[in-house]
Amino acid sequence: MDALSLQCPSLLLLFFLSLIVQCALAQLPGMWEVLVPNAGIASMHTAVTRFNTVVLLDRTNIGPSRKMLLKGHCRTNQHDAVLKNDCYAHSALFDLQTNSIRPLMILTDTWCSSGQFLPNGTLLQTGGDSDGLKKIRKFEPCEPNGSCDWVELNHIELAEGRWYATNQILPDGSVIIVGGRATNTVEFYPPRKNGAVSFPFLSDMEDAQMDNLYPYVHLLPSGHLFIFANTKAVLYDHESNKVLRNYPPLDGGPRNYPSAGSSAMLALQRDYSTAEIVVCGGAQYGVFLEKTTDSPAHGTCGRIVATEPDPVWQMEDMPFTRIMGDMVMLPTGDVLIINGAQKGAQGFEMASNPCLYPVLYRQDQPAGLRFMTLNPGTVPRMYHSTANLLPDGRVLLAGSNPHIFYKFDAEFPTELRIEAFSPEYLSADRANIRPTMEEMPETVRYGETFDVFVSVSLPVVGIVEINLGSAPFATHSFSHGQRLVKLAVTSAVPDGNGRYKIGCTAPPNGMVAPPGYYMAFAVNQGVPSVARWIHLIA
Ligand SMILES: *[C@@H]1O[C@H](CO)[C@@H](O)[C@H](O)[C@H]1NC(C)=O
Ligand SMILES: *[C@@H]1O[C@H](CO)[C@@H](O)[C@H](O)[C@H]1NC(C)=O
Repeated sequence: MDALSLQCPSLLLLFFLSLIVQCALAQLPGMWEVLVPNAGIASMHTAVTRFNTVVLLDRTNIGPSRKMLLKGHCRTNQHDAVLKNDCYAHSALFDLQTNSIRPLMILTDTWCSSGQFLPNGTLLQTGGDSDGLKKIRKFEPCEPNGSCDWVELNHIELAEGRWYATNQILPDGSVIIVGGRATNTVEFYPPRKNGAVSFPFLSDMEDAQMDNLYPYVHLLPSGHLFIFANTKAVLYDHESNKVLRNYPPLDGGPRNYPSAGSSAMLALQRDYSTAEIVVCGGAQYGVFLEKTTDSPAHGTCGRIVATEPDPVWQMEDMPFTRIMGDMVMLPTGDVLIINGAQKGAQGFEMASNPCLYPVLYRQDQPAGLRFMTLNPGTVPRMYHSTANLLPDGRVLLAGSNPHIFYKFDAEFPTELRIEAFSPEYLSADRANIRPTMEEMPETVRYGETFDVFVSVSLPVVGIVEINLGSAPFATHSFSHGQRLVKLAVTSAVPDGNGRYKIGCTAPPNGMVAPPGYYMAFAVNQGVPSVARWIHLIA
């Protein structure tokens, strides 16, 4: 054979192979879109309000962002390491209706802080670094055309400084604030008499002060807290401040900051007696100290039935190794794992190989069949990036700033674009089974029964679920206060003209769903409606 005939088949083969690869990629589910080309700030902390606006929050002490405060507004702060007179925004409000951004005024440093919506829809935000270490702030959301802004409380402060703490709303509507750097205690908002309470679990690990930051805190339907740090987890009674039980350790090395994996509590459903926790990914032990940005991350997830008397971790392999992934509870009960990197650790310029592929974790499938690889994005979102479920079923991606200041001439630059990822359930070929929420009460009490009316183009077969999604505070690869509660429902009864009536029962108590505003989705054959906000009250 001559050289040409040797070359041609291999070229042809390459051509067909590349076609196959392209087709396979084109077929991966999910769609990406850029919502805002320049948000002006890189959001390190992100939360969706009941007015369909999104609070974006970075840190002060970071120098010029790319968004100015409103004309004539500046922050004068002698503590600021970079700008003593700072006219740049470090927080902003994003309006989902118009994709517009309004700068907000934050006074003290919110770096690596924590937050949670209170029962009346006010966002409580606590701690940070420097002059923000003990700060308590509130943001009372308003109509998108309003002028609501941050209010920093001056009459009270946290009992202890909290940098890298986790917040979780409790059944009575108060908030527990867990841990923080060199702060192995818990405290509450509103403050309780005994102030900060010792929580030795956080110091009782091999490398205390390492890999125990931003602990994964989940409120179980028993009312107790499942708290995971490093490789360990406990069942904690926040009333008596007692550890009730130690869970077995999770194999595969530490999972919390700076070895960030992520964690979610799977959807609560049926009689709400069971809760399962999933912890996925993380850095290899010690990578943060050695600063080896090319050490492969973990590819394992552990899943445990936290409400069983003697549970063990069931291990699963993700399709990709991943650190700094975000786990987002979708309205269906599936978990989207998105953002992050495949190598390195959490921290400034500590990671490489961005993981552009989201994966879907289908909790109801048998082990081994739960992961599905989705359409990859193009924007690396690593350290200091966030992911939040939106009321229309999309997922909002913001931030990524692996640098200590804003830096754009870098391999992984400060990221100012805001994107949305649409899971496959929003694809055009499913539009005719997508339900529309027609009527739903604005407020319901625990245990109350009520009717929801939906309309669907194609006839409904079987059950239309009504699922309540909380609006968590997303930061550092963990969504504080994230939960999805599936309501007990009747079959959908035809009501004429493609309308259906669904009888629902509100969650029985605040242990299943703490009081507050939830996104109520109707879900028909895995396709969610646009949510309506529902106020759950005692
Ligand atoms: C919501 O609750 C917080 C905390 O109790 C309070 O500070 C705030 O004023 C309340 N907001 C409204 C609108 O009632
Ligand atoms: C804001 O919009 C609402 C309707 O969404 C309207 O009722 C109200 O008057 C507007 N307020 C201002 C200040 O424009």
